[in-house]
Amino acid sequence: DGFPATRLFSQGFSYTYDDVIFLPHYIDFPADAVDLSTRLSRNLPLSIPCVASPMDTVSEASMAVAMASLGGAAIVHGNVSPSRQAAFVRSAKSRHIPLASDPNFFAPADAVTSASDFGSSSFAIVTESGSSKSKPIGVVARSDWEAMADRSSPVSAYMRRPPAYVPSSYDFEQVAAFLAGKGLELAALAGDDGEVLDLISTEDLERIRACPKLGVPSLGPDGKFLVGAAIGTREEDKGRLEHLVKAGVNVIVVDSSQGNSKYQIDMIKHARSNYPGLDIIGGNVVTMAQAQNLIKAGVDGLRVGMGSGSICTTQEVCAVGRGQATAVYKVASIAKDYGVPIIADGGISNSGHIVKALVLGASTVMMGSFLAGSYESPGVYEYQGGRRVKKYRGMGSLEAMTKGSDARYLGDTLKLKVAQGVVGTVADKGSVLKFIPYTMQAVKQGLQDLGASSLPMAHDLLRTEVLRLEVRTGAAQVEGGVHGLVSYEKKIF
Ligand code: XMP
Repeated sequence: DGFPATRLFSQGFSYTYDDVIFLPHYIDFPADAVDLSTRLSRNLPLSIPCVASPMDTVSEASMAVAMASLGGAAIVHGNVSPSRQAAFVRSAKSRHIPLASDPNFFAPADAVTSASDFGSSSFAIVTESGSSKSKPIGVVARSDWEAMADRSSPVSAYMRRPPAYVPSSYDFEQVAAFLAGKGLELAALAGDDGEVLDLISTEDLERIRACPKLGVPSLGPDGKFLVGAAIGTREEDKGRLEHLVKAGVNVIVVDSSQGNSKYQIDMIKHARSNYPGLDIIGGNVVTMAQAQNLIKAGVDGLRVGMGSGSICTTQEVCAVGRGQATAVYKVASIAKDYGVPIIADGGISNSGHIVKALVLGASTVMMGSFLAGSYESPGVYEYQGGRRVKKYRGMGSLEAMTKGSDARYLGDTLKLKVAQGVVGTVADKGSVLKFIPYTMQAVKQGLQDLGASSLPMAHDLLRTEVLRLEVRTGAAQVEGGVHGLVSYEKKIF
């Protein structure tokens, strides 16, 4: 009944996740017994198979601490100066709680001109010099500024008392006990050198406490949150790499839309020989031949996907790419022979897509749009047609490329820049600390239906042809979605 994967994927069609469907198998364990633990790369274990994309509207310090605290990981983007990208890594590595709100600093005479001056934080810190290097003399709350009749006053006119300090080495319960013990609503997290890293409020603590608990947090060998970072393939990326290694990065993603290039192979070899303890992920690839070249160059992980991302126009602009289900299956079938984990990158818009990617051979999924628009993604919320949204843009969009990401598309050598991505917005999704646990529960239920209690078992059931698939016709896809209703509310949790 149904088709084994080898047959289904060898007929000359490029299938996306929605094109295929698994036939159910036999259940002899509860969904909660499904173990989602996996590997991001050869030497880095994760307890959930989720990775945040290196995109400037997805992964900075806040996403990195949230994903690591859930047992996944984020790859911080490189569309900023090397020192700023290294600061994301340092910031994430200095936390023991899933919060990095990146507050802004003001001098006493500064005036707040718009809510965006607060960035993504509800508070800003006032210091004599207006920089993080000097001692805080007060705190400004966004809510106080919003409530003021004359918002042009200097912050010194309405700042609150300077915050009490807690060491950033405190874990969640220690910070909560500190605030409760002193009856405070707010405290400053301070690093070893006394520099204020962040502000944490009782509201933040309540928000984090209300989120469902998941598996074991992802920690690097340094005992701190595991953090990855993206680099390009230009000569100057070697300097960026050095900055990142000094900041303690655990894994590097060499970020190219078509990874099978001399430039990427040279960069992989450079990283391999200069930083032997560092895991290196190469990509992107979609064919077995591409994968083989990067495996030969020494990668510890492979990122799979070309043109499948929600903001991608590569397939339309360049006529190159592959349906993501086919790409994942084909690359996984060669990478497994070398023990190289693969990351199914792009095209995830629901938990069913995650199940398909994982069963087809991926060890993790990398997500952009699924995580964008969350509390932890960079940027500020705005309103569009009555809905709260945040910006989400392709790294190959003209807007992102002007900040430096053109190298991903090898556009740095070209005079005429051509976009391979778009700029848009996505709806407010709340905190990843909340919606990722629900998503993982759905993934467990999908694996349970297939009789797979772990990812290695799912891969084995597919390889031994116990698991069977079929292609869905257009009508079958319509039937598989909600249909025939005048209206409905799509609520998953
Ligand atoms: P999702 O579907 O999760 O995809 O939003 C995220 C992935 O898309 C890739 N990416 C791009 N691909 N043009 C492209 O062709 C772009 O502008 C672009 N920006 C990101 C990337 O692999 C990311 O992880």
